[in-house]
Order: sequence, then structure tokens, then C-alpha cells
Amino acid sequence: MDNKILDKINVQMNFELESAYIYAAMQAWFENEDWNGFAHFMQKQAQEEMEHAQKMIHYLQERGYAVEYDAIPKPKNDYGSIEEVFQAAYDHEKEVTKNCNDIYLAAKEAKDNASEIFMQWYVMEQVEEEATFDAIITRLDRIAGSSSGLYIYNGELGAR
Ligand SMILES: [Fe+2]
Repeated sequence: MDNKILDKINVQMNFELESAYIYAAMQAWFENEDWNGFAHFMQKQAQEEMEHAQKMIHYLQERGYAVEYDAIPKPKNDYGSIEEVFQAAYDHEKEVTKNCNDIYLAAKEAKDNASEIFMQWYVMEQVEEEATFDAIITRLDRIAGSSSGLYIYNGELGAR
């Protein structure tokens, strides 16, 4: 089936899987560093990305598109600090946002109404994702490396 918009969604589906992989590696780093709350947060995040991919797979299949899985690049496994992990996650989400907005606009231009409406959910989801990571970074800025502050926050995110 020749459909440039569905091709783009298939590419993004693989990027969602890559996102899950990146967050799973972040989870592992936090576990290695004994920050179990932050690890739990990243596990949830990885799970959410898997769901984002599944949602795309389901949509592509309903459109009669043959879904194609790509190779997933090796994620970063080593970080220097908690702040660095969350900043990398935030930067990654900004990239996802750009992709989702691009696909949304391309669908609109191609008059592929179903894909446009489908991508609307991702556009709005990204507003939430960016807000989440932005809030975490603000909080970490305020904690400013204080170990009691970090322990409290680790507990809070562990209860998410
Ligand atoms: Fe996602």
C-alpha cells in the first residue's frame, strides 16, 4: 500500500519503541544507583511508550498497512547525574513532539482525515509529557542537589 502518511506513522511507531528502550535504560541506571522511586517512574514511562507504539500498530493495521519493525539503536546506558537523566528525557520528548506535530500537519495537507484525527491524540499527549518533565526539572532545580530533598522526591515519584 502506497501511503506516505502511514509510512510516517510507522516510522514514529518505531521511535516510540526507541523511546521505551531509552526510558528502560534510564530505569536500569536509576536502579543501579539505588534510586528506586525514579526507577519506578521511568518504568511507567517506558510502559507508556510501549502503549503509544501499540496504538499506532493497531491504527496502521486497521488501515490495511503492513507494519514494519525497524532496528532499535542502542540507548545511552550511563549518566552522570539524576538531573542529566531527566534533562535527556525532556529533550527526547521535545523531539517526539516535533515528530508528532510534523505528522499531524502532513496528514492535514494530504487530506488524510483519519490520520489527522488519530495524530491529534499524540499532539495533545505531548503537551502533557513535556509539562511532566518540565515540572520535574523545575523541582530538581529547587532541590539543588540537597540529599534530603532528593530522597523525598524519589519517594514521591515512586508512588506515581
Ligand atoms: Fe510517546
